[in-house]
Amino acid sequence: MNQIRSVLARLERQSLLEKARKVDVVSERRMLAITPETARFYHRLLRGIGAKKILELGTSSGYSALWFADAIMQNANPKIITIEGNPTKIEMARANFEAAGVSHIIQIRQGQILDILQKMPKKPTFDFVLIDADKENVTEYFDLVLSMTRIGGIIATDNVLLPRKYQKFMRKYTNHIRQNRHVVTGTIPLGYGQEITIRIS
Ligand SMILES: C[S@@+](CC[C@H](N)C(=O)[O-])C[C@H]1O[C@@H](n2cnc3c(N)ncnc32)[C@H](O)[C@@H]1O
Repeated sequence: MNQIRSVLARLERQSLLEKARKVDVVSERRMLAITPETARFYHRLLRGIGAKKILELGTSSGYSALWFADAIMQNANPKIITIEGNPTKIEMARANFEAAGVSHIIQIRQGQILDILQKMPKKPTFDFVLIDADKENVTEYFDLVLSMTRIGGIIATDNVLLPRKYQKFMRKYTNHIRQNRHVVTGTIPLGYGQEITIRIS
């Protein structure tokens, strides 16, 4: 097993234990990751589109970013920017990226996502964006990342179906993006529900 896969296997064991409440983990250290099926779906997708540049909103322990790294490593100049506000999570992600040997292609930006996105250049740089952070601001995140996504690139959003506590925000979100003529979009019932949005113009 390669270095990345062995870290991922450890994180998947940890995530299962956390979800089954078989380990006591303080809330600020909980992984809250995309499901393994979702991760494998995005891994295939990223390989398929030959992605090189990825933006992620919500790093947590780095589980999803590690899958992305594994998918794009062999492409020319691969780069992942991942944004996280919780210093404990950043410390966990950093250790996982080091252990997996992918720190050189992943840049963690620490701070509030809205602040960081507002300061980033609005150039169509990214092949793929994952929105997986707080749900209150998800519509604003989408509006900001759209101009940073290349035409033909994909904006993926986790939790559009589950948990139910997010439904109010996610319904508003999907209604919002369905009215945007620059994208085509649809929901896949995978993991917690994935909105897959392709920028077409
Ligand atoms: C669901 S977790 C991300 C899981 C990760 N994508 C994975 O699958 O491994 C969401 C993360 O977003 C971070 N977050 C939520 N709202 C944020 C905000 N407004 N600014 C910065 N980070 C935020 C949380 O601290 C948390 O670690």
